[in-house]
Amino acid sequence: MLVSGIFLWALTAGAVSAKTCHNITVEVPVTARNGLFDKVQTPKTNSEATAFAISATKQGGNGTQAALSGYHTVSGHYNISAQYCVPKQAKGNGHTLQILTHGIGFDKTYWDLPYNNYNYSYVDHALSRGYHTFSYDRLGIGKSSHGEPKNEIQAFLEIEALAELTRQLRKGTVPQIHEKPAKIVHVGHSFGSTQSYALSAKYPDISDGLVLTGFSTNATYIPYFLAGASFQQARLNRQSPGNLTSRKGLDYSLGYLTSADTSNNEFLFFQPPYFDPGLLLFAEQNKHPVAVGELLTVGSLPMQSKFSGPVLVLTGSSDLPFCGGDCLATGGAAPSIPAEAKLAFPAAKPFAAHIQPNTGHGLNMHYNATAGYKYISDFLGAHGLAAEKK
Ligand SMILES: *[C@@H]1O[C@H](CO)[C@@H](O)[C@H](O)[C@H]1NC(C)=O
Ligand SMILES: *[C@@H]1O[C@H](CO)[C@@H](O)[C@H](O)[C@H]1NC(C)=O
Ligand SMILES: *[C@@H]1O[C@H](CO)[C@@H](O)[C@H](O)[C@H]1NC(C)=O
Ligand SMILES: *[C@@H]1O[C@H](CO)[C@@H](O)[C@H](O)[C@H]1NC(C)=O
Ligand SMILES: *[C@@H]1O[C@H](CO)[C@@H](O)[C@H](O)[C@H]1NC(C)=O
Ligand SMILES: *[C@@H]1O[C@H](CO)[C@@H](O)[C@H](O)[C@H]1NC(C)=O
Ligand SMILES: *[C@@H]1O[C@H](CO)[C@@H](O)[C@H](O)[C@H]1NC(C)=O
Repeated sequence: MLVSGIFLWALTAGAVSAKTCHNITVEVPVTARNGLFDKVQTPKTNSEATAFAISATKQGGNGTQAALSGYHTVSGHYNISAQYCVPKQAKGNGHTLQILTHGIGFDKTYWDLPYNNYNYSYVDHALSRGYHTFSYDRLGIGKSSHGEPKNEIQAFLEIEALAELTRQLRKGTVPQIHEKPAKIVHVGHSFGSTQSYALSAKYPDISDGLVLTGFSTNATYIPYFLAGASFQQARLNRQSPGNLTSRKGLDYSLGYLTSADTSNNEFLFFQPPYFDPGLLLFAEQNKHPVAVGELLTVGSLPMQSKFSGPVLVLTGSSDLPFCGGDCLATGGAAPSIPAEAKLAFPAAKPFAAHIQPNTGHGLNMHYNATAGYKYISDFLGAHGLAAEKK
């Protein structure tokens, strides 16, 4: 009794300084019009993964067009694994909820990195400002349902899953989340930003604000990412300190690809010397794969979004996939490559783009990450999206 009493006390004491979060699984019905990529085989070996990258990066080509044989409807019930967090002084309804969608190479913990006692946690910052957060593993990734990796797990299906999650959260019908938000802001990183953007294009009224990090609308440099990853089968990835299939609940089938090793991870996401090398190792040990169906639909974006709320694009100065390593190199055409996304948001009020200095594509993993978080919450607060209705 005494021993378990002390144990309980220790847990509770820990919880006082920690945040209030719930790990939940939400089952969502999803229907989408997906691409049918029957002109290519799902890569089943590491050599075939390389062959896939070779054809996807060929100059002047369009790998998606070359693989596309038509469209088909995909429909089903899927489990989404999520973390819902509330600030200490949560009062119930009337708050602003941030829905956080991670990018390729990560899962939902991108937003709540435990490294160095959560010193890089976006969630902790948002909670300190009074926001509620809902981060989730994208469909296909982490502890969410893993589907067939070519014709099922695609951006189209994931965007519909995000739409359904958003509707349920707004109505307050997600089991275990009873508060109803007054406002919802969609925050994305990389592929998660692409999906948040596409969501707003398809359903302009579904969101109250968009924060697109690690993003631009310029697809010129995506092949740098596809080449720099040196993709391998997640199932067969030996070099990495974390054999992906050995992690509980993460059994990926062939056709889910991952960057090969720590050097590839650094190339894709980090800008030396502006990061803690220990955090690169952490990122490598906790990396997540991407389905080939996702890679084939990364670039299939609507041209414009009629979304009329506030939009902030915040991208690291040295971002690889969205800026080719230098976001300011536009030859005078615009203040920055991310700033050119304004053309895709003709109705946004306001549209702003910010370049986070000394930072690569994985913004949350650089020394100055928390200053970027502050920039985001200041922007939201200044444009009617404070944590609570005044
Ligand atoms: C919730 O999930 C996180 C990882 O996302 C894990 O570290 C934590 O232990 C989980 N908490 C509970 C209570 O299961
Ligand atoms: C490549 O083809 C796909 C499918 O037809 C299309 O959606 C996409 O816009 C094309 N990409 C480019 C850069 O032309
Ligand atoms: C979702 O998870 C629950 C609990 O593990 C399980 O019973 C259910 O079958 C799952 N649903 C789907 C669609 O995978
Ligand atoms: C957290 O980061 C700040 C600078 O942003 C640094 O001064 C502090 O030492 C860090 N703490 C830990 C535990 O890493
Ligand atoms: C990865 O771990 C699983 C489970 O522990 C094991 O069966 C498999 O052989 C490992 N794969 C490699 C390539 O080491
Ligand atoms: C992408 O950015 C580069 C560098 O600024 C520029 O040369 C190119 O025209 C841009 N492409 C598009 C489609 O905006
Ligand atoms: C840190 O980030 C903030 C917000 O973007 C920026 O104003 C500041 O210049 C950055 N500091 C350094 C040293 O990069």
